[in-house]
This record gives sequence, structure tokens and C-alpha cells, in this order.
Amino acid sequence: MASSIHRIGVGDTVLAVRTAGSGLPLLLLHAFPLDHAMWCEQEPLADHLRLVVPDQRGFGASGGTEPTSIEQLADDAAALLAALHCGPAVVCGLSMGGYVAQHLAVRHPDRVAALVLADTRLEADTAEARAARVDLATKVGRVGQRILADAMVPRLLAGSPGAAAAAGRAALEAALRVAIERQPVATIQAALAALGARPDMTEPLRRVAVPTLLVVGAEDAITPPACMEAALAVMPRARLLVVPHAGHMTPLEAPAVFNRAVLEFLAEAALHPA
Ligand code: MLT
Repeated sequence: MASSIHRIGVGDTVLAVRTAGSGLPLLLLHAFPLDHAMWCEQEPLADHLRLVVPDQRGFGASGGTEPTSIEQLADDAAALLAALHCGPAVVCGLSMGGYVAQHLAVRHPDRVAALVLADTRLEADTAEARAARVDLATKVGRVGQRILADAMVPRLLAGSPGAAAAAGRAALEAALRVAIERQPVATIQAALAALGARPDMTEPLRRVAVPTLLVVGAEDAITPPACMEAALAVMPRARLLVVPHAGHMTPLEAPAVFNRAVLEFLAEAALHPA
């Protein structure tokens, strides 16, 4: 599948964006503190859809300008879809990307045909979680990205015996560590502040009536299935898939299940042929 890398100006920054395929746009929004590469296993979806896979502001090859809020990242995503002349898109975000997708649906509803929210939550941080982010940002400033990789990598993947990732777990962990360590310290610190300041989206999401697929790894230690069950309870057109033997990185750990679920969901929503 041919793919292209673009550099697109949005607002006061420039985003590096990978595109592939044609047809209905599928915007893939990465987690913290990663970049577009976490969606590498979704490449086959380019046989069916137009993939738009940015490095969000400050991350990956976008570099440069640090994020100041999740709302700003959502506005970047809306401007990116406009710059690429995309009609309403399927917006898929994982964890931090899921927070951005929620804000995109609320702030720019005309840009969103459907949502896929993976391994994320609607609630704001608790006071303890916010304090832990402040502490982590300080440590990253002192020690570097390594301390963030040490803290996060062991919690990203499913750990049960027989987990789908078992065979490739070491390779996946190594790739995630490299991805975390290539993100600029200033971006990590700014994103931690933005994540800690994000509002609770439960009430706004009650009014988001686009077809929504919620996906979560059964062994997600960061945003456990209960988070997506809470979203299911409030979102008017949501359905939930809990993926066995997957952790926080469901699209990487169970790519065949994830990709099939997206295509089946779009077919059922009459957005894409079965
Ligand atoms: C992520 O995976 O994007 C982060 O863990 C989200 C968060 O820290 O809230």
C-alpha cells in the first residue's frame, strides 16, 4: 500500500502526517507519550479507508511546538482534516488520542462521522493522578525520558500467561521504549500538564450521537474495562468490545481483532460496505 508523509500547517504549528488509501477518512490519534508509529498494525485498513495518521503537536516528527491543552489538540485535528479536504471522518483515538477524539466530536461535530474510542476514559484525573503527573514531569526534567519509559512500558501490555502478545512481547516492549524515548522532554512535560488539566467529558458525551465503537483490552491496567463500560452507559449510540488477552495497546496487541472490529462496526453503521 502506497503511503505518503506530508507536513501540514495547522494553526501556529506544522504537523507531520502519514496518509494511505482512499475513501472514507479514518483519523488515527496516538496515545501519550507515543507517535503515529503505534498504528503500524492498522496499515491493512488502508485497503478499505483513507488513513490519516498524524504525529500530534510536539510529538514524533511534528516536534517544535508543545501542546497546551487537549482542546488545542482537537482543534489541530479538525484543522488537519480541513487542510486535507476530508469530509466527516471516522475518528479513532487511543487513551490520550481518545481524549482528543472526544473533544473533536464535541467542538467540531461536523468533522466526525463516527468515533472509535480505544482504551480511554471520559472522566478527568483525580487529585492524586494530577499530583503524580506533576511529580513525573519533574522527574523527566531531571532524569530524561528513560524514567517515563521505565514507569509506563511494563503497564502498557497484557501480562497474563497465554496473552496474544506473549511471543512478541519483548519486541513490542522494546519498540514502545524506543518510541517513548524519542519524544522531546518539553513535549512530555507539556502533555502531562495538559492531560492533568483535561475536563470531565461525561456530560458533553451524553449529547454525542454519532455511531461509536468502544474498544478495550480485558487486561488494560491504565484504563480498565470499567472505564469503557462507564462510557457505554452514557453515550447514546455506543457499543463495547472487550478484547481478551490485550492490555492498554489493543490495536498493537490484537491487530486482527481490532481491524476487523472497526470494519464490521462501519458496515453496521452503513458507513462502509461489509
Ligand atoms: C495514554 O496512554 O495516552 C496515557 O496513559 C493517558 C493518560 O495518561 O491519561
